[in-house]
Amino acid sequence: MTTKDSSERDARVFALYEQLLEIEQRLIPTGLHVFGRASSAGEQIDLFKMIASFDRPEHGVRALPTEHVEAAIREFVNHGSEAAVRLLETHGLKADETRSVFALLESVSTKLQTNTEIDSLVRALRGEFIEPGPGADIIQNPDVLPTGRNTHAINPYSVPSAAAFARSEFVATSIVERYRNEHGRYPEAMALVLWGLDNIKTQGEGVAQALWLLGVRPVRDGLNRTTDVAPISLQELGRPRIDVVMTISGIFRDLFSPTVQLLDKAVRLVAQLDEPVESNYVRKHVLQQVQADACTPDEATVRVFSNAPGNYGTNVNFMVMDSQWEREETLGDLFVTRKCFAYGRDSHGRAFEGREARLAMDRALSRVEATYQNIDTFEIGLTDVDHYFEYLGGVSKAVEKRAQAKPAIYLSDSLSREVKIRTLEETLRLETRTKTLNPKWYEGMLKHGFRGVAEIENHVSNTFGWSATADAVDDWIYAEVANTFLFDESMLERLRDLNPHSAHALAQRLLEANGRGYWEVDESTLAKLREISRNLEDQLEGVL
Ligand code: BEZ
Ligand code: MG
Repeated sequence: MTTKDSSERDARVFALYEQLLEIEQRLIPTGLHVFGRASSAGEQIDLFKMIASFDRPEHGVRALPTEHVEAAIREFVNHGSEAAVRLLETHGLKADETRSVFALLESVSTKLQTNTEIDSLVRALRGEFIEPGPGADIIQNPDVLPTGRNTHAINPYSVPSAAAFARSEFVATSIVERYRNEHGRYPEAMALVLWGLDNIKTQGEGVAQALWLLGVRPVRDGLNRTTDVAPISLQELGRPRIDVVMTISGIFRDLFSPTVQLLDKAVRLVAQLDEPVESNYVRKHVLQQVQADACTPDEATVRVFSNAPGNYGTNVNFMVMDSQWEREETLGDLFVTRKCFAYGRDSHGRAFEGREARLAMDRALSRVEATYQNIDTFEIGLTDVDHYFEYLGGVSKAVEKRAQAKPAIYLSDSLSREVKIRTLEETLRLETRTKTLNPKWYEGMLKHGFRGVAEIENHVSNTFGWSATADAVDDWIYAEVANTFLFDESMLERLRDLNPHSAHALAQRLLEANGRGYWEVDESTLAKLREISRNLEDQLEGVL
């Protein structure tokens, strides 16, 4: 072997090692939450590890070092706080500093063991007072415990928080740098998906990412409300200002009305900066559009889109699930039909709240080169629900037709210690390996019987949603789903006994993936699948 060969080999082995580590270290939800039931000790070890892996200035807690966290948490669970503190002392960590971590974990542990959800529900039905509690991710904010309280959101005027804005600089920079590494230049325009619950949980990280891409910072008024923005200088930014097209959910629109105005204001501010168009893509595109369409600058600056007032969702998920669509572009068109309502304020200060603006949205999407969404929790990812593909998949499919090129599609999870930007394909592989195909995950689901099989089938259908909207699913994913759930006889029998409807739907979805050209597979595998599907169908008819 030459030196070059061996260093290349070492680099590949290292990359493989890093990937395995990434999969191993991922927190995997095992099973569903059962209303009224406290979580078990086994589930708590992983949770404690994650909680102890983050700095928590609000609790005076420093993160435990990665190399000792596992052993320390085991010691804590088996022998208590003092034992864990002493163990860490042998590694040179001061007791004064580590004690606060375990005090926090003890309080989390106590709250996890009490569950008053049913009691609270009954009291709520009686019209009694229910104590409020914050809505957030348990790792991000352990103060969400105990559950069974009246979840409240946040003050929209506090968004984005200083912490969220600080964290988001790295994310925004990483996205555009990753694009530049792969395409040799910055993306001129990006489409972002913003959700309400996510921005509650992260105190506005999605909002902050949009502001960073535009190159502006939030400004608070005398009442400490975030009502304005100021440009970050091009020199400080060190890159062009990216044109950002925002699709916001109906929930975001309802909960974050002042933030919607802030985002629109940010775009309008950037469009008016006296800067060279090579460094300010918002300005570049607005000027181009005013020329090409003979429209007003106001019309050319619309970038915040949502449903018509009172409406929610894209319906792209329903269309995919029903299997009645013929051409993929129908999915992207449906997205625009649902989401082409503009929100903001024109240069005369007149608010528009849900004005139909289909042409403006078509134009804005026609320039998009990358799409992006932030994933805010380990619990709900790309294949757990149909909302990620209806939104990020939907907007990406809409871009594909209007820009006549597929956008680069990126995601990040804000909960890792080091935020990492991944492509859609990379994220799907990671999710598939850690959830759908992971025995720890599906056995956790199967403990829930009928509902668990339905969850497995949902994951497969949601994975399929990423084929339909972005053709982003590798062949091996469908092949391994078939091997794991249908071609393993004892597994097939379990699924059939617990929930033949979902087992049948799963087989049908795999056949649809092949039929629509998303999964290339040999004829004998298909024949086996068809037979399994037919048998399940016969069984279902027998039941009826
Ligand atoms: C939201 O929080 O905005 C949201 C929740 C579920 C689906 C879509 C959006
Ligand atoms: Mg393919």
